[in-house]
Amino acid sequence: MFTFHQMKHIFEILDKMRCLRKRSAVSFLGVLVIFLLFMNLYMEDTYVLERDKQLLRETSSHQLNPERYVHKFKDLSNFSGVINVTYRYLAVTPLQRKRYLTIGLSSVKRKKGNYLLETIKSIFEQSSYEELKEISVVVSLSDFNSSWREAMIQEITKKFAHHVIAGRLMVIHAPEEYYPTLDGLKRNYNDPEDRVKFRSKQNVDYAFLLNFCANTSDYYLMLEDDVRCSKNFLSAIRKVITSLEGTYWVTLEFSKLGYIGKLYHSHDLPRLAHFLLMFYQEMPCDWLMPYFRTLLAQKNVIRFKPSLFQHMGYYSSYKGFDNKLKDDDFEEESLDIPDNPPAKLYTNMNVFENYDASKAYSGADEYFWGKPPTTGNIFLIVFENPIIISKIKVTTGTVDRQNEILHHGVLDVGEEAMASKIGKQCVTYLRLGAFKNGNFEMADVNQKVPFNIHCIRIHVTKTQKEWLIIRSISIWTS
Ligand SMILES: *[C@@H]1O[C@H](CO)[C@@H](O)[C@H](O)[C@H]1NC(C)=O
Ligand SMILES: *[C@@H]1O[C@H](CO)[C@@H](O)[C@H](O)[C@H]1NC(C)=O
Ligand SMILES: *[C@@H]1O[C@H](CO)[C@@H](O)[C@H](O)[C@H]1NC(C)=O
Ligand SMILES: *[C@@H]1O[C@H](CO)[C@@H](O)[C@H](O)[C@H]1NC(C)=O
Repeated sequence: MFTFHQMKHIFEILDKMRCLRKRSAVSFLGVLVIFLLFMNLYMEDTYVLERDKQLLRETSSHQLNPERYVHKFKDLSNFSGVINVTYRYLAVTPLQRKRYLTIGLSSVKRKKGNYLLETIKSIFEQSSYEELKEISVVVSLSDFNSSWREAMIQEITKKFAHHVIAGRLMVIHAPEEYYPTLDGLKRNYNDPEDRVKFRSKQNVDYAFLLNFCANTSDYYLMLEDDVRCSKNFLSAIRKVITSLEGTYWVTLEFSKLGYIGKLYHSHDLPRLAHFLLMFYQEMPCDWLMPYFRTLLAQKNVIRFKPSLFQHMGYYSSYKGFDNKLKDDDFEEESLDIPDNPPAKLYTNMNVFENYDASKAYSGADEYFWGKPPTTGNIFLIVFENPIIISKIKVTTGTVDRQNEILHHGVLDVGEEAMASKIGKQCVTYLRLGAFKNGNFEMADVNQKVPFNIHCIRIHVTKTQKEWLIIRSISIWTS
């Protein structure tokens, strides 16, 4: 992070640059005026041939014909349409209706260890019957070797026949003729030729997979073909999406590894597919991926803990190299993901930079950070609708900043929010208890509170000299 002085210094440099630019703009304008005057004189002169004059007229009349250009521009700029690829349907039962989530994975022949069947099994095994109704899994067998594809499809249909029939599992292939050239590509990062070919093809594999999945569901999750899932991962993802309602996001990350556990809105998929195709030979997909998010103006990574997906394989798909990267935030069993229903957040503390109040509530790996609070400061959560709460947990401070906790504070719950100067807020509150060592936790809240809760208020009861980090606020509804 930049310190204040570094920032100040940067601003000074920027300021100087701005002055320079102004000065050079002035002299540039001067030159231009003189040049135009000269041109005018020159053109008025008989030096200009009739034919040239006519050419000039033609070009300017073309430029004045806007329709023609608008038309061309439209053709070039439509990246929200799907790419026209005729897929081979290796095992597809047409979808009767759109699902909530499509899980996409692309698989190629590996030298050592094939985990594709294990991965599909894990997806289905870790989901409940109710969850399965909202999922469709699309597997793209992307290898150009047709006998390998034949062998895989035999095994998949044998093992997962009922999922295929239920339209829950689709297996597709994009024919080689749609691929751009994969030979003689740029050797960025000094990668060996076969590595460049492998990663470039992989970008195209993913582009065609995403393109296929553009209208199968509301959300899309990218997995790889050697992944273990945590129990009821769909419900965990759904809770997170619901708690982010009304906020802007492009990519949510449910694993810190490669191209695993990355979630998109399905409506962004055609654009992401075009994007991967456009830069397919530049760098591997997991390096391209963050650029997509930043280009669509999501500045920071939004990643969730615990991770819901883990690498299964010990060998990478490229040449069977060892690949022991594991996600140490992965939890396979009994996740207790909070519900955090949609809410508005407000604080009258002095917020540091962009560590806003909402960052304590989002469930992502981020937090609220305020300058030293004083007696009477509040941190307020107003739910969209009054709710029944089973459990509340608030943690402050971080491992690195154990002193920046709430040293003296209490937590209140409020009934019936009314309009006020700062937006809706509750008038009457019931005190649930005090923070201990910077934390607050209470179960069975619904048995202690006789009303539906509309507001939660954290109240600072004594001025402290330390800053305050609210790391997470977790609400479980019942
Ligand atoms: C872009 O393509 C989509 C889908 O093919 C189409 O619905 C849309 O009208 C197109 N937009 C423009 C500006 O041509
Ligand atoms: C897609 O491509 C096929 C030929 O490959 C063509 O016949 C068809 O008209 C194209 N469809 C669209 C919507 O461009
Ligand atoms: C395709 O795969 C099969 C079985 O996996 C293998 O025996 C064969 O040699 C491969 N063909 C090519 C051209 O690589
Ligand atoms: C996506 O929509 C198009 C046109 O509406 C349809 O032809 C196609 O089958 C759909 N794809 C899937 C996988 O449902």
